[in-house]
Amino acid sequence: MNSRLVTTRSSGRSVAASLEYTPEVAQLTEASYARVRNVVPAIEWPLHAPYVAAINSLKKERNAVVLAHNYQTPEIFHCVADITGDSLALARRAVETAAEVIVLAGVHFMAETAKLLNPDKIVLIPDERAGCSLAESITADDVRELRQSYPGVPVVTYVNTSAAVKAEADICCTSGNAVEIVESLGAEKVIFLPDEYLAAYVAQQTEVEIIPWHGHCEVHERFTAEELEQYRADFDQLSIIAHPECPPDVLDVADFVGSTAQMTEYVYSERPARVLMVTECSMSDNVAADVTDVEFIRPCNLCPHMKRITLANIHRALETLEPRVEIDPSVAVRARRSVERMLAPGTRKDNQRMALTA
Ligand code: 13P
Ligand code: SF4
Repeated sequence: MNSRLVTTRSSGRSVAASLEYTPEVAQLTEASYARVRNVVPAIEWPLHAPYVAAINSLKKERNAVVLAHNYQTPEIFHCVADITGDSLALARRAVETAAEVIVLAGVHFMAETAKLLNPDKIVLIPDERAGCSLAESITADDVRELRQSYPGVPVVTYVNTSAAVKAEADICCTSGNAVEIVESLGAEKVIFLPDEYLAAYVAQQTEVEIIPWHGHCEVHERFTAEELEQYRADFDQLSIIAHPECPPDVLDVADFVGSTAQMTEYVYSERPARVLMVTECSMSDNVAADVTDVEFIRPCNLCPHMKRITLANIHRALETLEPRVEIDPSVAVRARRSVERMLAPGTRKDNQRMALTA
């Protein structure tokens, strides 16, 4: 079979779809290319366009949506995603979708979170190897041991963890709401997992004593304060904005610290003359696709896990409805509780009561 010829089945009917760059495909994807023309060279578009057209058609056939994290490449983020954002936005919007199939263009823990919130839907992760160094840094046994070492101290886990770890926690948080979640518990002390640097950042913003774990993001830990100081010296009027997974001395150099969505919002609203986004490479591309009056200075680090997701494997996932995310029901019920507590518009009192009864 021609490797660029695929077959999809719908209502018992076989539909052959060619993945060639034909004049029809060029026309169908014209508006998509207009969205990314600032960041995707014209010479590359014929490689992406057939997949963009095929994915957008398959989504309708399958009643599917694609949720894409801010670190996905522009042709995914701007051309096939229905919902985009940081981990918090993806979790929130995953609850709202009426689609029967969710394709998570992001990493495995994000797909697990979507599945926890949509147990009856098909949730697909286009490459099951899309992991995360933070999620790998801690196990459910580690959390149980921590609880024994600090009896009665509530456990907040960053969503960048497995469902098994979430099941052992009291509540989840993301980089966008970590301080708020920690303070909502009304506790003097909180165990905060697994990112040591995010824990240090939260500890700076609150009176609550933070007991950290020693996990790191392999992407953000590579930035150094020295390299950022050098960029400041080399470029006038440079705004440096950083993700809180960076080491503390890097955050000290930054003008603004926030989640990927908060960093994006900063660029949209502040319109700095020049910006350096201290985070994964695709973030600058995705914002630069829309914001043309800001100069992006781009030392960036690639997340190898995020980059496992491609148009080709999103297309394959929609065709085959595999690989699916499945979670052991006994784990899922407890992990879901931790995620739902984070998302609940619940009052501070609800979380305080929960912390006391944990
Ligand atoms: P956000 O929640 O800020 O999108 O971060 C997720 C992540 O994995 C950052 O490395
Ligand atoms: Fe995990 Fe870091 Fe990749 Fe985010 S950037 S998914 S924290 S390894």
